[in-house]
Amino acid sequence: MPLPGLTLRAARHADLAAIRRLVDEAIPEPDGARLAATTERIARTLDLCVVAEYRESTIGHISCWQDEMLGVVGSHMVSKPYRGLGAGGALLAHTVKQARDLGLRLLEVSFDAEACRASHLYERHGFRPIGSHSPDGWNRYERRLDGPT
Ligand SMILES: CC(C)(COP(=O)(O)OP(=O)(O)OC[C@H]1O[C@@H](n2cnc3c(N)ncnc32)[C@H](O)[C@@H]1OP(=O)(O)O)[C@@H](O)C(=O)NCCC(=O)NCCS
Repeated sequence: MPLPGLTLRAARHADLAAIRRLVDEAIPEPDGARLAATTERIARTLDLCVVAEYRESTIGHISCWQDEMLGVVGSHMVSKPYRGLGAGGALLAHTVKQARDLGLRLLEVSFDAEACRASHLYERHGFRPIGSHSPDGWNRYERRLDGPT
């Protein structure tokens, strides 16, 4: 585990307030509609959401939903003071394994143009740009899960 004492566990309903704070912190401009839409979607798909805890605080989460054999990473955030310490990579590796264990064939994620640090992290975890855009114009990346780990 990268950050000594970091733990990952399945999210519960009681984690939603802490997840909402993480989403709020990560959205660059205060955008109430985007915050509400993101947190509502996480609440609806909580069974594939994982939180990272450090010293009894929730410092990150990754949320994913399933569409037949496809998994979609919907939000993935680490609180700013804890970035660059491996928590985001640990959450992503956990989700890749979870998706594989569920028998999914593909994991997909979309980033806005400013998330270049995130695209580097995802490429390191086997994701490749697929040259098409999500409905909101974000760049899409995918990782096939039926090949070698
Ligand atoms: C993307 C994100 C979840 C990564 O979390 P993290 O805990 O910083 O992830 P890691 O520490 O495992 O890796 C971060 C990468 O940024 C680099 N980095 C170094 N210092 C950093 C810092 N202060 N802040 C952020 N990243 C840093 C790391 O070296 C690593 O790059 P690498 O691929 O060269 O190793 C986090 O930056 C974040 O919450 N970003 C805003 C939301 C976002 O863009 N989400 C992704 C799309 S949904």
